[in-house]
Amino acid sequence: MSSRDMWTSRLGFILASAGAAVGLGAIWKFPYMAGTNGGAAFIIPYILFSFTLGMFLLLAELAVGRAGRAASINAMIKVGRSKFWGIFGTIGVATGFLILTFYSTVGGWCVAYAVDALLGRGLITDLSQLGAHFGSFAGDATLGIFYQLVFMVMTAGVVIFGVQAGIERLSKYLMPTLFILMIVLIIRGLTLPGAWAGVEFMFNFKWEDFTANSLFNAMGFCFFSLSVGAGTLIVYASYLSEDANLPRSTAWVAFLGIMAALLGGLMVMPPVFAFGLEPTAGPGLTFVTMPAVFAHMPFGQFFALLFYVCLIVAALTSSVSIFEAVTAAMGDLKVSRRTAVPVAFISMMAIGIFCTMSFGVLSDVKIFGKTIFDLLDYLTSNVGMPVTALGLSFVAAWVNWPETRRQLTTAEALSPLVLTLIRLGIGIVSPLVIITVVARSL
Ligand code: ALA
Repeated sequence: MSSRDMWTSRLGFILASAGAAVGLGAIWKFPYMAGTNGGAAFIIPYILFSFTLGMFLLLAELAVGRAGRAASINAMIKVGRSKFWGIFGTIGVATGFLILTFYSTVGGWCVAYAVDALLGRGLITDLSQLGAHFGSFAGDATLGIFYQLVFMVMTAGVVIFGVQAGIERLSKYLMPTLFILMIVLIIRGLTLPGAWAGVEFMFNFKWEDFTANSLFNAMGFCFFSLSVGAGTLIVYASYLSEDANLPRSTAWVAFLGIMAALLGGLMVMPPVFAFGLEPTAGPGLTFVTMPAVFAHMPFGQFFALLFYVCLIVAALTSSVSIFEAVTAAMGDLKVSRRTAVPVAFISMMAIGIFCTMSFGVLSDVKIFGKTIFDLLDYLTSNVGMPVTALGLSFVAAWVNWPETRRQLTTAEALSPLVLTLIRLGIGIVSPLVIITVVARSL
């Protein structure tokens, strides 16, 4: 038994890992990515990616984390038995760090919308005002940075509070509430006139919409939504006891992650079509659409508040996991927690404010044709996470397969055939898919 904190229960671990995975990705990112990448042409590959390389790499990350009993840099070095593999662990932590810089912008939007709902300003009945309302709010840098700061303070607060107490308690109660709430909102959205066009957009696959780029983005979103390759699950698994069943935990996390994204899409896309909004509106899509959905339901103000509160918690369980991964990696490098937390906090905010400002004063600043926000979003999902995952797949399947095999079977024996298939999935299928998709999009 290691001296690292242990989860209070295995369910606690699954819920916390699902909490790490399920966050703004499902509710904020999925709808707008689907909207800008051809709907079904993005969604169907995303589901296929999640059930294949997503699950294999999740398994690899959990195995390396529990075997290494350290944060991502040290765990990779220990399990890979060479300092070289620490490079991939470092890329993972850097990726997580960069994710939080823009994630906190969106987390801040959630806080702002919750405050609006609390003050009775959560509903918009004039459909022509939807886009303008979000635009003027997101374009206000002072307000945006203020709420971003609030979100980051909440994130750091939960981390200081401790792994078990903070995260488990939050995810146990509010994640199920969020799922139920999403179903209520989906039913409301689907019963709006014209809403089915949104469902069709999501599931009616058309070859003409299918491009190498939509495929690349679907793969990137698969990594983002499952939090694979950001050093997060390595750290969570390092706190996990030996008798926990890794394949089962993986299946649960992947299943909940995919369900959440599909529910997020079904919640946003039908109203987008019913209200005649543009599915290609970009990162604001969910925030543009939801105030009108609430305006079209009884007790809309109440539902709006409850929704944004749950969304903040979902965002926090993810942001906390990333913040924890970054500070734990610093801890494994002998930086005390007392130093690591403020250093991580300040440096994330220092970059993060530019992400927030890229919806306003810096909206014309483009690097490779993308705003600062979009660039960081793209680089982390489509470069950082896949590269980290390549290292993970190599370590887990080839450098130290005996340890991975042991990790997979601590709770339940697996047949040699199943083990071989998992090994091929982690060590051959996943890297091949990543390399092929990247090559095609280039
Ligand atoms: N996996 C996290 C999310 O989807 C980052 O929000």
